[in-house]
Amino acid sequence: MKKVGIILASFLGLVVFVVAAGLIYFNTALPKDFEVEKITLPTDSLRIANGKYLVNHVMVCADCHSKRDMTVYSGRVNDDVYGGGGRPFSHETNFPGKIYPGNLTPTGKSNWTNEEIYKAIVGGMHKDGYALFPIMPFMNYRTIDKNDILDVIAYIRTLDAKPNNFEMEPQQLDFPLSLIVKTMPQPPAHQPKPDPNDKVAYGRYLVTAASCMDCHTPQDKGQFIMEKQFAGGMEFKMENGKFATSANITPDEATGIGKWTEQDFVNRFKSYADSAIVLGPNDYNTEMPWSMYGGMKEDDLRAIYTYLRTVKPVDNAIVKFR
Ligand code: HEC
Ligand code: HEC
Repeated sequence: MKKVGIILASFLGLVVFVVAAGLIYFNTALPKDFEVEKITLPTDSLRIANGKYLVNHVMVCADCHSKRDMTVYSGRVNDDVYGGGGRPFSHETNFPGKIYPGNLTPTGKSNWTNEEIYKAIVGGMHKDGYALFPIMPFMNYRTIDKNDILDVIAYIRTLDAKPNNFEMEPQQLDFPLSLIVKTMPQPPAHQPKPDPNDKVAYGRYLVTAASCMDCHTPQDKGQFIMEKQFAGGMEFKMENGKFATSANITPDEATGIGKWTEQDFVNRFKSYADSAIVLGPNDYNTEMPWSMYGGMKEDDLRAIYTYLRTVKPVDNAIVKFR
């Protein structure tokens, strides 16, 4: 009996030791810092216009990093709040913690160097040395062409200062996310932007830049269920308490967008481009930033459609609104 007791005690001791060592490792060695190269921002107007296009219509930074007027379908960003920081993801929106998309205008970023902004966008590291939560899509942005990222920063540097839309609090993440997030920052792995004539590759690039997968793939305990990639099912709690669930955008004919023609797809986005559908308090709203994506170039939407035709059809019926 005694022997068993000793073995058990030493085993427990070992477990405690391993857990403690693990916690110390997570808290001191991670996130692992990395160097980024010195950056020279582009100054010519075409590059800055490309940055503006990406921020507003493809990577939609302005969607998360602004206050959205949700009395309008898919939300509208008015000029006076543009870039001044976004609504927090919090327990109220079913997020396990509380994080704020910060103010991208000079009010929030004048004390950030270009390299620090770059490192946050493509590496997931805050300038204060902590790991950003990947709702900020740095895992996608790290693979985007470096020139596109530089154009985005160059455009951000042209923004007029706006007051903070929300009073920021320090990042709060529930356990175990608070530990897991520390493993995520890593140096960028830029890929060159594909030739637009290669519609599948170019479409895939845009889908990555626009983070379509992040909303359109269901998750289990924070991990994407890759067999259901693009099959929808992620539920969003809207401000009026109703829910929007992301659609199945695989080519499945019965439950996805298999029956949509390329023109149907383009028209659907373009129909929201300049529209402001004013909602009543009990109307369904959506998290899908239709009005921002609606400003995408038609050829870019066509490339996205072309790429989405190549993904695996998944049979997954979705009720989009409840
Ligand atoms: C889906 C929403 C979303 C999108 C799209 C998004 N961000 Fe963020 N971003 C966030 C959130 C949330 C945080 C805070 C994360 C945290 O504190 O853990 C953040 C943090 C940041 C930070 C660091 C700290 C801060 O808040 O200022 C920068 C810089 C940033 N984002 C820039 C961008 C740029 C540039 C783009 C577009 C290329 C972009 N973001 C797109 C949600 C988003
Ligand atoms: C912030 C989350 C989010 C992002 C990012 C997002 N979507 Fe959606 N999407 C939704 C939700 C929620 C719905 C269902 C409600 C609706 O129709 O608006 C939806 C609906 C759709 C539909 C309508 C399908 C149908 O059956 O009516 C299409 C098409 C679509 N998304 C394509 C895309 C593409 C392409 C991208 C990337 C360019 C994208 N989505 C990015 C959340 C998102």
